[in-house]
Amino acid sequence: MKTIRFDIISIFPGMFDSPFRESLLSKAQDNGIVEIRTHDLREYTLDKHNRVDDTPYGGGVGMVMNIEPIDRALEAVKKDRPKAHSILLSPGGYRFDQKKAWELSRKDEIVLVCGRYEGVDERVSDLVDEELSIGDYVLNGGEVPAMVVVEAVARLVPGVVGDEQSLAEESFSGEMLEYPQYTRPREYKGRVVPEVLVSGDHKKIEAWKRQAALEKTAKYRPDLYRKLKSDGSE
Ligand SMILES: C[S@@+](CC[C@H](N)C(=O)[O-])C[C@H]1O[C@@H](n2cnc3c(N)ncnc32)[C@H](O)[C@@H]1O
Repeated sequence: MKTIRFDIISIFPGMFDSPFRESLLSKAQDNGIVEIRTHDLREYTLDKHNRVDDTPYGGGVGMVMNIEPIDRALEAVKKDRPKAHSILLSPGGYRFDQKKAWELSRKDEIVLVCGRYEGVDERVSDLVDEELSIGDYVLNGGEVPAMVVVEAVARLVPGVVGDEQSLAEESFSGEMLEYPQYTRPREYKGRVVPEVLVSGDHKKIEAWKRQAALEKTAKYRPDLYRKLKSDGSE
């Protein structure tokens, strides 16, 4: 059985308790497919006040996280898992996407480092394998981005999501968004489910799904749609 372990380094390890104790991720941990450990960065400081940040060289606003506690925390985790793939969450990193999620889902051990304040000392990037951003916006810390990465990656590990066929049909599994989904009632306040979906004609349904996915992609993700056209897939 394939298993995956995540080690998360953060000054707010308590933030992960509830999100990882619900739903499929909780079940996956109970089944031993996914293991998640959090590490309090403050336990790795040598400073008697457990400080993990300091003022920036060259001036500027806010505080910057020191390299030393992060280095010590990474070393402690890597002592038992020397092959673990390490990631710093950072708005300046490579964009995390579904392709990256699939790539990471094939790893056995992943370490995630969460920044806070104005960010982390640039030299931390030498200590990790890569820096990942979850999108072009800035959050207060790397904890929510770490949750995003853990959930997106873990659900691709066999056995975490019950119906693995659903993974193959999802948005971004191919080059376009997923087709629109409907369930009961067939009519709600004048909004009717497309007739073809209740026709029982599977060929027609498949053709409708493809066309609807294409239209949705063109509307919401013109960048993906243009790529589709230029690749000649449509
Ligand atoms: C307030 S942010 C620092 C922003 C930094 N001053 C900048 O302009 O790039 C603090 C921490 O939150 C995390 N973070 C914020 N937005 C993120 C994003 N979009 N993706 C990944 N991590 C993010 C990072 O760990 C970052 O070090």
